[in-house]
Amino acid sequence: MKIFLDTCNVESVRNAADTGLISGVTTNPTLAQKAGRADYRKMLAQMCDIIGLESVSAQVKEDQTAENMFLEGIELESICRGKIAVKLPMNPHGLTAAKLLRRKKGINTNITLVFRPSQALLAMNAGADFVSYFMGRQEAKLKEKWGEDQKAPSGTKSYAESQIQRDLERMVNYKERYRFGSQILAASIRNVEHVELAADCGVDAVSVPPTVFWEMFSDNLGLTEDGIKRFLKDREFLTG
Ligand code: G3P
Repeated sequence: MKIFLDTCNVESVRNAADTGLISGVTTNPTLAQKAGRADYRKMLAQMCDIIGLESVSAQVKEDQTAENMFLEGIELESICRGKIAVKLPMNPHGLTAAKLLRRKKGINTNITLVFRPSQALLAMNAGADFVSYFMGRQEAKLKEKWGEDQKAPSGTKSYAESQIQRDLERMVNYKERYRFGSQILAASIRNVEHVELAADCGVDAVSVPPTVFWEMFSDNLGLTEDGIKRFLKDREFLTG
């Protein structure tokens, strides 16, 4: 399972990519705003220069016709040929543009804002390279709708988590059953538990905020850090 970073902060990506564990970056206008990167295309070019990244997702303007998304996709991809995946909205124009970008130009695409398996089926049929399922937003909405499951013993999945698991498993299953070339990408990740749930379901990639990436190095009981300190201390005994 590949790990992508979900951010427009170039410095954060450089730091994380230095570990050699990051395969790509996903961006969007909200993340650009948060990072203060009004110069979206310049930020994309800087991301593409970072060693080790295979893919940088660049989002087209959402309210365009398929033809205009296609044209903007070509322009965005020219920032760094072969590395940019054009991110398109989950709607008819977005999927038509995805199909055209793949068929006519061989350009990679990422369909964003996918919340249910039937949407993923359409995106995979359009030849999308990435299908981005939004875990965090889905969970927040389902919890708002159904509330927390008060009876669930701690450690068991909430209704929302069970639904998300089912969605992801179905998407992975459709992909395998119908031999689609798309990668299922779990996005809108809020915590390490989301990463583990996505991995349980067999997704191809997760796109995590930098904070979640660094949290993944620790266990929730602090045993890894404690163990490292203990080993270091006991090393004082060694003479050679
Ligand atoms: O890549 C976009 C997606 O991850 C957005 O997440 O945090 O806005 O729900 P979020």
